[in-house]
Amino acid sequence: MAVKRGGLIIFEGLDRIGKTTQSKLLYDHLTLECGLLCERLSFPDRSTQIGSLIDSYLQRKIDFNDHTIHLLFSANRWESIDSMRTKLLQGYTLIVDRYAFSGVAFTQAKGLDIKWCQSCDIGLLQPDLVLYFHRNKQSNCLSYTGDERYETKSFQEKVEFYFEQLRSSSSEQWKDVNVIDKDNIEMRDKESIQNEIRLYVKNCLDGIKSNHIDELWK
Ligand code: TMP
Repeated sequence: MAVKRGGLIIFEGLDRIGKTTQSKLLYDHLTLECGLLCERLSFPDRSTQIGSLIDSYLQRKIDFNDHTIHLLFSANRWESIDSMRTKLLQGYTLIVDRYAFSGVAFTQAKGLDIKWCQSCDIGLLQPDLVLYFHRNKQSNCLSYTGDERYETKSFQEKVEFYFEQLRSSSSEQWKDVNVIDKDNIEMRDKESIQNEIRLYVKNCLDGIKSNHIDELWK
């Protein structure tokens, strides 16, 4: 019998909002409890030569102008596309920390045009599910130490504005994951966020009926 392809599941949102913790919990759940083939990836992938340039840039060791670093982030996704497609068709579900949506929101926050920002990622693999981590802006739940280049409150607030714009024009593949409790005061506990994510993921994987993978933004 032909192998059913895996799902491409993306975690998106601001820095330090809990994406990595939740993606690890999901990976453990899908592999250990559901017995699925699964892999975790993250962008930027700092292990490649392009990724190492991005890492040096984020750590403020080298500089690039805003267009150049945007293209490097995009190239870092393109260099993974063949292995990602192969894995998906082998039946692996890919859990991916950040994708082209971070690319667009972070670069738009520097003042670049959305069409230009999107253009270099047109044709990447279309995700089956985008889990958009967000918060109530008044909740003040995130703190930034400025360790890496973009980790300041003022920059993250700009990025959030552009993430919200992307969200409002996005497709049904996007699901909101509000990390703040219903009284808009505290962070929700990890388990309740994870349970919500598992439901979205189950529905998404059940809904994959063909091995065809669409192209992003085409
Ligand atoms: P990370 O903390 O998830 O490793 O991401 C590093 C930083 O890079 C984070 O601040 C978001 C930013 N970023 C971009 O500016 N453009 C991109 O395309 C991606 C994937 C991340």
